[in-house]
Amino acid sequence: MAHFITFEGIEGSGKTTQIAMVAEFLRRQGHHVVTTREPGGCPIADAIREILLHPANDALVDRAELLLYAAARAQHVAEVIRPALQQGLIVLCDRYTDATLAYQGYGRGLDLDLIEELNALACADCRPHLTLVLDMPHEAGLQRALQRNSAENMTDEGRFEQESLAFHQRVREGYLALARNAPQRMRVIDATGSPGEVSERLMACLQNFLDPGMAP
Ligand code: TYD
Repeated sequence: MAHFITFEGIEGSGKTTQIAMVAEFLRRQGHHVVTTREPGGCPIADAIREILLHPANDALVDRAELLLYAAARAQHVAEVIRPALQQGLIVLCDRYTDATLAYQGYGRGLDLDLIEELNALACADCRPHLTLVLDMPHEAGLQRALQRNSAENMTDEGRFEQESLAFHQRVREGYLALARNAPQRMRVIDATGSPGEVSERLMACLQNFLDPGMAP
């Protein structure tokens, strides 16, 4: 059965590692899984990603940034997410509509209702069934993201890591507020500790969602 699961969290919360582990876990159980990410996920959206994340683009105004995220999402939904769900696959997506609410809404201060409307336009009926928010203190997350970027020489993707600690705190609090308002769909996972510990918490949540009858 098709499931659309999104992963959210501040910079450095470990989403990428966890998504890879979840995908492997589900494949071992015989599920057909597609992993993808935003911004990006297909060539046109990847081209928009380059504009959005390049540190040289510090002149990008907030509303242009918002519209570019929406444009990338509309393309990604049409090319990747909707077809995969129509084929009955499980789609695991690294960031989606909640990221726009957290970053452009809570982080930048753009109107949340306007963002909801743009999200609706971009994703049409492709709404996540489950959203896992990896939560940890924003200072630690940011430090981890900065270390990763320099270790992996990701000099062309650091525009958000340049933002202030206060920005990242607003994003974190934004995610927590979104999760409080959508308790059916969103689950907050403690992302502190080793990748193995975080993964155990995440798998328990996922198993409960996929197979509620088996919950302890
Ligand atoms: P990425 O390098 O993929 O970061 P991470 O590994 O932390 O997910 O960069 C994605 C960046 O884009 C991240 O800083 C969050 C930001 N973003 C938004 O501001 N709005 C959005 O709608 C999305 C999808 C991402």
